[in-house]
Amino acid sequence: MTSTVPQKQMNASTTKANTETLLTPRFYTTDFDAMDKLDLSTVRAEWDELMKEFEGDANKNHFKRNEVYDKELREVPPELKEEFLDFLVSSCTSEYSGHVLYADIKRNVENEDVRKVMGYMARDESRHAGFINLALKDFGLPVSLGFLRKAKKYTFFRPKFIFYATYLSEKIGYARYITIFRQLERHPDKRFHPIFHWFQQWCNDEFRHGEVFALIMKANPHLLRGHNKLWIRFFLLAVYATMYVRDHMRPELHKALGFDPTDYDMRVLDITSQITRQIFTFTLSLDDPRFRRGLDRLARIGKAGAEARKRGGLVGTIRRAAWGIAGFCVFARLYTLPVTTNEIPDDVRTAPVW
Ligand SMILES: [Fe+2]
Ligand SMILES: [Fe+2]
Repeated sequence: MTSTVPQKQMNASTTKANTETLLTPRFYTTDFDAMDKLDLSTVRAEWDELMKEFEGDANKNHFKRNEVYDKELREVPPELKEEFLDFLVSSCTSEYSGHVLYADIKRNVENEDVRKVMGYMARDESRHAGFINLALKDFGLPVSLGFLRKAKKYTFFRPKFIFYATYLSEKIGYARYITIFRQLERHPDKRFHPIFHWFQQWCNDEFRHGEVFALIMKANPHLLRGHNKLWIRFFLLAVYATMYVRDHMRPELHKALGFDPTDYDMRVLDITSQITRQIFTFTLSLDDPRFRRGLDRLARIGKAGAEARKRGGLVGTIRRAAWGIAGFCVFARLYTLPVTTNEIPDDVRTAPVW
């Protein structure tokens, strides 16, 4: 989909949200007819129970600001502010990307199960994106979400890729938010912005969204077998590596939260990996030193690539291409490392206990 909206309407946040790189959140579309044919009869009992949770809407009143929010708003140093804004824009974009995808699926299918769940998830993601955008508004830099919906490029993913990718991004989203929340529970002095108070209940929404895709995959077990395992491995690595590279570009943000980015990311990956054992028959071997070294190499390449991008011009373009090839080779090497297998439990549902 190409943009017909004048570029000049975009503020810095919207421009950033509308930029396509390997590391920035994308918007997705899919095969709606295939979505319409989803059959959940083999997981009916678990599905209905999950739908009751959605219907209960425990976070209905959660995404509202209160006096604590206003009281704790304060100035932060410029380098931290820049990285924090980057974090907010990218989080807002990926929340909104979820909203757009779920709302589009809902609009384009007749299958009642699918319509209902997509409606619930679109509702949640719209609250999440809106809440972050309010924080951006305080800085005078909200993302124009309506504009983005029309202007941003959409990537087509077959339903199974939507299931793998979205399942993982919901679960890793949970792991990221809960890890930050727990850290700030232990070190309240590091809470430099009030939005972090909201993360605990917030990430329970993401956890629940992940459960939806776990059940969809359970109802379609062929998606978890045979050559599909190669796809799952690809998505695990892509989602993990993207986070790792992106987080290592935000040193000030992690310092302010009292984290070393590597420790933070490994903790998040460990939680995500534990969760994915509910549905995937293997996990990436996070403790393998070759895996760690590969991620570090990717982070260095990511930084160098970003610098080349900033530099621009012919030299910048050539350097970017060279770093791109280097990144591809490291990724390919990581992809071939041995994985750790596990048995999927009969009852796939898990609880957000971290
Ligand atoms: Fe969300
Ligand atoms: Fe979500």
